[in-house]
Amino acid sequence: MSLSPHSESVIVSRLRAVGCVFAEDEARLLVAAARTPAELAALVDRRVAGLPLEHVLGWAEFHGLRIAVDPGVFVPRRRTAFLADRAIALTRAALTRITLARTPPASHERAVVVDLCCGSGAVGAAILAATPDRVELHAADIEPAAVRCARRNLGARGTVHEGDLYAPLPATLRGRVDVLVANAPYVPTDAIELMPPEARLHEPHVTLDGGADGLDVQRRVAAGAGRWLAPGGHLLVETGEHQAPATLELFTRHGLDSRIVTSDELSATVVIGTRPGDGSPRRR
Ligand SMILES: C[S@@+](CC[C@H](N)C(=O)[O-])C[C@H]1O[C@@H](n2cnc3c(N)ncnc32)[C@H](O)[C@@H]1O
Repeated sequence: MSLSPHSESVIVSRLRAVGCVFAEDEARLLVAAARTPAELAALVDRRVAGLPLEHVLGWAEFHGLRIAVDPGVFVPRRRTAFLADRAIALTRAALTRITLARTPPASHERAVVVDLCCGSGAVGAAILAATPDRVELHAADIEPAAVRCARRNLGARGTVHEGDLYAPLPATLRGRVDVLVANAPYVPTDAIELMPPEARLHEPHVTLDGGADGLDVQRRVAAGAGRWLAPGGHLLVETGEHQAPATLELFTRHGLDSRIVTSDELSATVVIGTRPGDGSPRRR
């Protein structure tokens, strides 16, 4: 929709009045999303009422992709691009290993990747986009709204399962997963009330709440990973800067060779654990 500069500046003022820091950018996106003046007015009203911009628009930009995000589904954060980058690098390394493990080299074999606690499926979608046709992707989430959203974002290239952590995954994946990535909730329960209202009020607590120390879900992810990872397979979990040593300790306790990697640019911390063994020859 096109709009007179005056009308757009009215929207910018309304957005600024409720504390939107990037009011001009948001106004532009809302105007572009609306097909009629009535639709635009409704979008602006929802944003001014405090809904996250991504829920108003119905999408978030993540890792260069437009990811559908329905109301009630966790909005993928910019910093999680670092987790996706590390997972893509390890998926590519697994593909090289898989290919070379065969004589002659088997360039048609696929890496098995699982996006646990997938939310909208943003991380899985980024991995698929970076490794065309070379990944068997499974994603899982406990929230039905997230599962529906992830199915839309991953389409026919990924299989999305609904349930508690590993429970809904097919047993055929046991011992075969090359890359297991989990952006599980890691906010300590008491810290949720300190989060911006957009998260605290519009993202279900199950998407944020990691229990007293923030590590309850990670603890279960780390405890279960050994059964699912292939020898040489990797578990990657996003965590808080101050939580990282405790996350690392969880991984180590469950037999993974582990390290912390960080991105200053994205203020992101990821713990990577590797199941001992080189993973070849392939057992599939
Ligand atoms: C922090 S959000 C991350 C979503 C997505 N991976 C991303 O980065 O945008 C955590 C997700 O974990 C899911 N979740 C929480 N507890 C879970 C459990 N026990 N089993 C499966 N999923 C769970 C939530 O529904 C939510 O979608």
